[in-house]
Amino acid sequence: MSVPPIRPIEWLEDRVRIIDQTRLPEAEVYVDLRTAREVADAIKTMKLRGAPLIGVAAAMGVAIESRSLISVGWNKFELKVERAIELLRATRPTATNLFWALDRMNMALGKGSIQTSPGACSDSLVAEALRIYDEDLTTGIEMGRAGESLIDDGCSILTHCNAGALATSGFGTALAPVYAAASKGRKFRVFADETRPLLQGARLTAWELSRAGIDVTVICDGTAHSMISRGKVNLILVGADRITRSGDAANKIGTYGVAVSAERSGVPFYVVAPVSTIDFDIDKGEDIPIEERSQSEITHICGTRIVPSEVTAFNPAFDVTPAELVSGFVTEMGLITPPYRKNIASLRPEKA
Ligand code: MRU
Repeated sequence: MSVPPIRPIEWLEDRVRIIDQTRLPEAEVYVDLRTAREVADAIKTMKLRGAPLIGVAAAMGVAIESRSLISVGWNKFELKVERAIELLRATRPTATNLFWALDRMNMALGKGSIQTSPGACSDSLVAEALRIYDEDLTTGIEMGRAGESLIDDGCSILTHCNAGALATSGFGTALAPVYAAASKGRKFRVFADETRPLLQGARLTAWELSRAGIDVTVICDGTAHSMISRGKVNLILVGADRITRSGDAANKIGTYGVAVSAERSGVPFYVVAPVSTIDFDIDKGEDIPIEERSQSEITHICGTRIVPSEVTAFNPAFDVTPAELVSGFVTEMGLITPPYRKNIASLRPEKA
């Protein structure tokens, strides 16, 4: 299966190279990050975004920080790496993948303490970050395989936000089945919700699908509902930032409305996400922390204020779709259907 030729992130030994997603689609600009703080800032400002990619970047942020500390004593090394992990933890609250990846880095640090030197421990941290990167790429390909049969020749797919190559190591979650079906020669079209306020659908999903030669049309977020009700959409594929053990799924604000419309019109609504997006410690969607971002993302467009100056805006970045609106979860372990509580529990990895 061909992987889209997009490298949202790359490990270059002394730096982490990313595509600055805030510049797309006008310019394909690569930025080099050399410290955990630079990686944390890039996550906060959404130069890179998408649940799996945030996790991969955070892991590389810890690894790059550790590289600059190999000549300090062990205690200082451990303390500074722990601080880097805490800094990265505080960047964005909703996507589980961030905490999952940083927990793995913390484990690698702990295992390193039985090694002889900061240099050896740094090697272990780099190796773990690269494993997280590689696993995410493979996971995307596996989700593609698990979900491509949902896509019939000639069908119309709707997606919300960007859950593609740009949101991962390079293959995607919701767009993984799309790439897999396209590589089998199937013909279909994709409607990309523009995804206000930051326009991940219009800017990013449209960019990567059109680069891959896939027929993509951008629609306003509000248009999705009438298209669904008029039978213009056959399948909805979205990603997720956090899935609870009961199957409630947080994703980009606006996803819930799409799911409600889909249920009303009998259109299948699938969430495509790796097992690392499941938070096995949380039961209900209401317990998922929802990031609230700056009002200016709503009040301003390209630096121009579009809302009267005396009026405030409310900007939650995610909403939660309850499990009963989800037709199924496509994971790297295959398709998960109800009963979700039982079937999601079966995905829980053994504790290391
Ligand atoms: O705020 P963002 O752009 O990080 O939000 C991204 C999404 O909501 C994606 O749908 C989700 O992270 C899944 S990405 C594979």
